[in-house]
Amino acid sequence: MCGIFGIVTKDEQPLGPILIDAAKRLTYRGYDSVGAATLNGTQIDLRKDKGRVDEMAERYNFAEMRGQRGITQLRWATFGAPSKENAQPHLDSDGDMVGAHNGNVVNNVELREAFMAEGMTVRSQNDGESCVHAVERYVIQGKDMVTAIRLAYQDLQGDYAFVIGNIYDDKLYAIKKGSGLVVGIGDGFTCVSSDLPSILPLTRKIVRLNDGDVVTLSWNGVELHAVSDGSRIEREPELITEEMSAVQKGGYAHFMLKEIHEQPQVARELLHLLAHHPDVPSILQAIEAARNVYFIGCGTSYHACLAGSVYFGRLAKRTVIPILAPQFIAQYAPAVNAQDVGIFVSQSGETKDVLNALERAQAAGMTCFSMANVIGSTLTKQTSAWLPLTCGYEISVPATKTFTNQVITFLYLANRLGGGDGQALEALPDLMEETIAMCEPKVSTLAEEINAWNDLYCLGYGTTLPMALEGALKLKEITYAHCEGMLSTEFKHGPLSAVTDGFPVIFTVGPEDVPLIVSGINEVTCRGGRAIAIGAEDSRLRANATDLIPIPAAEAPIAALLTVLPLQMLAYQMSIGRGYDPDFPRNLSKTLTVD
Ligand code: M6R
Repeated sequence: MCGIFGIVTKDEQPLGPILIDAAKRLTYRGYDSVGAATLNGTQIDLRKDKGRVDEMAERYNFAEMRGQRGITQLRWATFGAPSKENAQPHLDSDGDMVGAHNGNVVNNVELREAFMAEGMTVRSQNDGESCVHAVERYVIQGKDMVTAIRLAYQDLQGDYAFVIGNIYDDKLYAIKKGSGLVVGIGDGFTCVSSDLPSILPLTRKIVRLNDGDVVTLSWNGVELHAVSDGSRIEREPELITEEMSAVQKGGYAHFMLKEIHEQPQVARELLHLLAHHPDVPSILQAIEAARNVYFIGCGTSYHACLAGSVYFGRLAKRTVIPILAPQFIAQYAPAVNAQDVGIFVSQSGETKDVLNALERAQAAGMTCFSMANVIGSTLTKQTSAWLPLTCGYEISVPATKTFTNQVITFLYLANRLGGGDGQALEALPDLMEETIAMCEPKVSTLAEEINAWNDLYCLGYGTTLPMALEGALKLKEITYAHCEGMLSTEFKHGPLSAVTDGFPVIFTVGPEDVPLIVSGINEVTCRGGRAIAIGAEDSRLRANATDLIPIPAAEAPIAALLTVLPLQMLAYQMSIGRGYDPDFPRNLSKTLTVD
């Protein structure tokens, strides 16, 4: 969790503006608190507090901060409430060293007690501070920084990355263990960050770090050492050619809106890639030969797994077990073996719940593949083959384009396994474009009309059930309302009692399910409820539903996918109507690297 950025320059200079910009670009990783530290000769200037970047930078005048080195951190709280004390970076006991982390040090509580017993000054509950004291412990014993970090690594349990510096030299040091960390090499400076968006405006020359890499950053270069034995690691930098506009809002009010609109284009790119991807045939072969097949993920990615299992059942006649990653560990891990296949699905490729499940599956000998958006993420490195989602950066915390591309990947694989050649999906991107254009005005009006409700339902059936669940998650995530997703036929078994005058119930409708859905609609409307149907134009839906949000006509598997687009848009519009920031919903983070 959290985001870190550190920079080393040749001479003292204004670093505040660089740190502010880097922090803004990492906001999607956490926004409970923000801090910045500059190291300047014999002084450390540290400013931090609870709050968001803009407000913090202004309140503490980050812009005036000068130094030869700088560190900034954005926090998504795990250890210790969001507060000034728990904000990062943290100082060591006598204030001559400063550092910040992202991730999760699981033995934080025990370590804090040990540090205090050893006479160190512990000022917070936060595990980032434990990283600093863990290094301090060995620096006090006279170890150099790289050795101290290597020894600290043995004491710090969990998955994390941290950056640290002291006033006695002109360098910064960092280590990666299970959390993302990338190095940038520029003209007269080097930098390190949890993710590329904060590095790319400064330099396109980067070095991706592996777990167990310790990096020493000087103004004119970096050195890598192995945490295991301190040996020197040689790694060539790579050049990133992607446009920076990919990580900016591109004229849209929010990243979420931009990402909703990007879906047809990234779907096109994905279908093109899948048609030529060398791993597709071997993945299909393994699925065909497997005893059991599991699709494993969390949150939105789990909903894509659900959609995948429906497609595999219908199109490829192959039973697949979709399962939430932690439940896979509890329920299936004891039973899997080398005859089984799992596809682990994750936008970030860093979700700890998913990586835990992967570890258990691999220990049992299961063949493990993955689907991820972030190239070079842990998940992609730890599976025998992986399929990229080709979405580019997804900055907004609510996943949209990565969800549809996960679903399309499953749809493509199911189509191929069922004997198709993927051609049937060619029309999909255009249909997505049409859906977005068709639904936008109608959805805006609807969002206004139902926005006073803090309880709503989103129902689906068959191919559309995963979309209803995903729509409900989007609505919960960014409107903070309670929205439950469920099988439409289950509604009458209990939740129907919630229906009162105007109570909104949304139905996602597949072309084969209209008569069944019309029954559900009438169960709601005859009790005064507002039944909102999302489906292709149909006189039966028109006659029975209170509202119809029409989508283009298509066959069931494709139609199902289209129904999620109005739901994403509805969640976005309602969030805006409530005055929230849909890109960065409270309490959440884009990348959940904690248990
Ligand atoms: O990066 P992942 O796909 O593994 O993330 C899993 C969930 O945390 C994620 O899908 C979450 O539910 C989204 N923020 C939903 O929009």
